[in-house]
Amino acid sequence: MDGMELKNLIEDGRARIAVVGLGYVGLPLAALFAKKGFTVTGIDIRPETVEMVNSGRAPISEDGLDALVEDVVREGRLCATLDGVDAVKASHVVIVVVQTPIHEDKSPDLSVLESALETVSKGLGKGHLVVIESTIPPGTTREVIVPLLEASGLEAGRDFFLAYTPERAIPTRTLREIQTNSRIIGGINRESARLAESLYSRLTTGDIMTGDIPTVEVVKVIENTFRDVNIALANEIALFCEGVGVDALKAIEMANKHPRGVNLHMPGPGVGGHCIPKDPYFLIGKARELGMELRVITAARRLNESMPQHILDKIEESLNSIGKSLEESKVAVLGVAYKGNTDDTRSTPSEEVVRTLMRLSSEVFSHDPLVSQDFGGKFSNDIREAVEGADCVVIMTDHDEYRQMDLKELQKHLKQPCVIVDGRRILDPEEVRDLGLGYTGVGYQ
Ligand SMILES: NC(=O)c1ccc[n+]([C@@H]2O[C@H](COP(=O)([O-])OP(=O)(O)OC[C@H]3O[C@@H](n4cnc5c(N)ncnc54)[C@H](O)[C@@H]3O)[C@@H](O)[C@H]2O)c1
Repeated sequence: MDGMELKNLIEDGRARIAVVGLGYVGLPLAALFAKKGFTVTGIDIRPETVEMVNSGRAPISEDGLDALVEDVVREGRLCATLDGVDAVKASHVVIVVVQTPIHEDKSPDLSVLESALETVSKGLGKGHLVVIESTIPPGTTREVIVPLLEASGLEAGRDFFLAYTPERAIPTRTLREIQTNSRIIGGINRESARLAESLYSRLTTGDIMTGDIPTVEVVKVIENTFRDVNIALANEIALFCEGVGVDALKAIEMANKHPRGVNLHMPGPGVGGHCIPKDPYFLIGKARELGMELRVITAARRLNESMPQHILDKIEESLNSIGKSLEESKVAVLGVAYKGNTDDTRSTPSEEVVRTLMRLSSEVFSHDPLVSQDFGGKFSNDIREAVEGADCVVIMTDHDEYRQMDLKELQKHLKQPCVIVDGRRILDPEEVRDLGLGYTGVGYQ
């Protein structure tokens, strides 16, 4: 098939799409393409994911996803399979969106991507369009992706089309954002970029900007690096404000009124998820290969990685301030997900806080309304059980349930005295103190 035929298939919705990886990005993406009228096969290596999707259910929590998956599976537009090679063979377009984590030493771990590409390569045929959506370090397409796909005996750009369009959607708003966000697309050649543009213009109402793949590879990682550095600056300002006795949130709110682009993010207990904590390392690692040190970016990462320890220090100090020691206290940790209203615990700062508290032999009881993840300690989905008899309550996640909790009701379960460490600054300090509870938070003395 040539590019024109594929373009026609895409434009009239007859192109069959295979999505490799049905995770936080892949499943919403597959379901949305199906909703737009395409026939989509989702490929995953987890049998339980494939089984759930085929029964019309979503294995992850994302607003609106359950209903959408149920719809498109019932309509016969989406199915899932473990058999990647056959599904690729039967498709015109293959989108790869598997996880791309980092190793313990912070170097990129591309083993999952490589294994997914080996599968794609075995099913690859002439005229296929392969689109990579996973976030990758600069240079990966040329150094890793093209050689693995060309193991098929086909040549990228001549026998099959290849494009890179990194995902920008944010968990909790994934479905909406995939359909409205602007997109950047890099192609191995112009025709590949144009085909991918044609495909994604059926999905999003946002602007689409095309370019070459090396540029798009850099853009994706600098976007998340920008956010990481911004958060690090907000965290550093928060630490400073704690020192001088100024409320950092108020200071940031006022600074953000500046007419020339001051847009500080929020300070917090650390940065989690499968994007911001690792994408800057893709840039740092590549720079090292080139003999360069990215000093600002590296310092920002270190600062953000030190925030869970700052929370631990605040827990200890605030307990001491009410005459208690960490060793003899019960600490309730509210939230193990890395972000409010999601069940995603990847790289969550709560893990370090919970594990360290356990080592320091205090009693730790964590809670989350959306996910059960105990990190080896006591855990409950029932907030009353978690806070019962607590000397300290730490808020690690900005779930709506915590924003809306009835503090008077909560207080009935706490020891007296008790202190709240608000890692997300979602409570009103005065309201908490008026109840006779101690209060401290990130960026607040
Ligand atoms: N989560 C986000 O919000 C987000 C946002 C933007 C970009 N990204 C990027 O998107 C990519 C995917 O992230 P995610 O959060 O969806 O990851 P995820 O871990 O939720 O999903 C990956 C899925 O791929 C499956 N998988 C692994 N190997 C496979 C293989 N060989 N064949 C088929 N399936 C396989 C896994 O079982 C899993 O279901 C990453 O590169 C990430 O950096 C994620």
